[in-house]
Amino acid sequence: MTLPASEITPRAVYEGRRALLRQMAAGAAGMALAGWAARDALAQAPRPGKLAALTGARSAVAGALTMEKPTAYADITSYNNFYEFGTSKSAPANAAGAMKTRPWTVAVEGEVKKPKVFDLDELLKLAPMEERIYRLRCVEGWSMVIPWVGYSLAELIRRVEPTGNAKYLEFVTLADREHMGGVRSGVLDWPYVEGLRLDEAMQPLTLLAFGLYGELLPNQNGAPLRLVVPWKYGFKSGKSLVKIRFVEREPRTAWMKAGPDEYGFYSNVNPNVDHPRWSQATERRIGEDGLFQKKRPTLMFNGYEAQVGQLYAGMDLKKFF
Ligand code: MTE
Repeated sequence: MTLPASEITPRAVYEGRRALLRQMAAGAAGMALAGWAARDALAQAPRPGKLAALTGARSAVAGALTMEKPTAYADITSYNNFYEFGTSKSAPANAAGAMKTRPWTVAVEGEVKKPKVFDLDELLKLAPMEERIYRLRCVEGWSMVIPWVGYSLAELIRRVEPTGNAKYLEFVTLADREHMGGVRSGVLDWPYVEGLRLDEAMQPLTLLAFGLYGELLPNQNGAPLRLVVPWKYGFKSGKSLVKIRFVEREPRTAWMKAGPDEYGFYSNVNPNVDHPRWSQATERRIGEDGLFQKKRPTLMFNGYEAQVGQLYAGMDLKKFF
């Protein structure tokens, strides 16, 4: 009888397990210290040196600094979903260099008292930049930990003064047929449109991100600015934003048009609600994909339940998936 591969414990894995046991014995305080150490190491790490610096103060927003170890810059910037550049994971890093990110404006319109077309330079100065370390869970079953630089979307929302009719926000991202090969394909109904309820958009964790790892966003990650909603599947976080519309009715998003039974409006990370074609109970952390690496359990609201659970009190999350 041959032993199944899963039963063999190689020395490195065995020793890793012993280290983990030692860490567990050190107790929760020890784990917390390890988390802080990871953050400090990040703060002191040399910048990737690829793009201009964009730093931020450590965020004081509840839940904004996960204890988990950030994914390597090389992984964050080479394994991407950005269908405007093609559907493979490597297409964005290969092709997004062609996208022109200056000059750049974002039109904020609809149900607001002060609609305005913001220039990128104005947005960069609108509020103090903060460092946020968020988990990102993609609907496909992989995850990363990304140190973003940006500020709460609420900062922008307050300045345009939503009217009483504003119930939802619609986010529209760049669709440039000339520089984005994917936009010439019919894989989605372009432009990429996403949406949030106003209270979700106002939640301080909802981030307008301009950078990562202390530098401007690389194009493949959504330069020059993008949304990041850490308790929802990654596709809710539109890249390369050009328009934000305040509306009365729930927006129809690009993914809802593509697969209404698969991609709901809310799309909160939920290990108990499977995608029709696969389970959402576990995830693969990018950078941890050794042969013997166990998948991680996916957390309710991606681990942000304490901060955002109240937004959905009384809602049937299987119906409003
Ligand atoms: N935004 C646009 N405009 N186009 C896209 O294809 N993909 C989404 C989201 N934002 C996407 C997008 C998906 S599926 C994920 S998982 C995240 O971006 C990935 O962000 P990252 O590449 O920075 O990790």
